[in-house]
Amino acid sequence: MQTSFAPDAQNKPTDSQIKEAIKDFPRNNASLLIPILQAVQERFGYVPPESLAIISKHANVARSRIYGVLTFYEEFGTKPSPKYKIRVCRGIACRHNPHYSKIVNKIKSIISRDNKFALETIACPGPCYHAPMMIVNDDYYVNLTELKLAKLLRNYK
Ligand code: FES
Repeated sequence: MQTSFAPDAQNKPTDSQIKEAIKDFPRNNASLLIPILQAVQERFGYVPPESLAIISKHANVARSRIYGVLTFYEEFGTKPSPKYKIRVCRGIACRHNPHYSKIVNKIKSIISRDNKFALETIACPGPCYHAPMMIVNDDYYVNLTELKLAKLLRNYK
């Protein structure tokens, strides 16, 4: 049974964990490169740069080719995913709200100190009457102010 693994800067996968993730794939079979990368991505949430040497040796594929595949397909990431994705609406109603710039700047300031958050802006998801709004993973927050934002983000540990 596979155990869950939440990588972060202090908790990088070890060589033995990476080997364990790909052990069921036959050796020296370059045609299995993508399934191997998918298995590593599924296990760790990303493909750690440290895994390239192990995968290269296991599948008998040059590291440069592995890197090429990793960078070609958007499904693969080479950095741990942040725990919380903050998606701020950039629609007209939100963008023109007086709190919008302060909220976005506050989020940028928080994510510069805390890598468990990532910020992206999104097209209007609908609740314009309650602008500005954002979504943290699957949680919707509306009528945001800078103060409300600071309070609610404290709940994401
Ligand atoms: S413009 Fe932001 S919710 Fe519609």
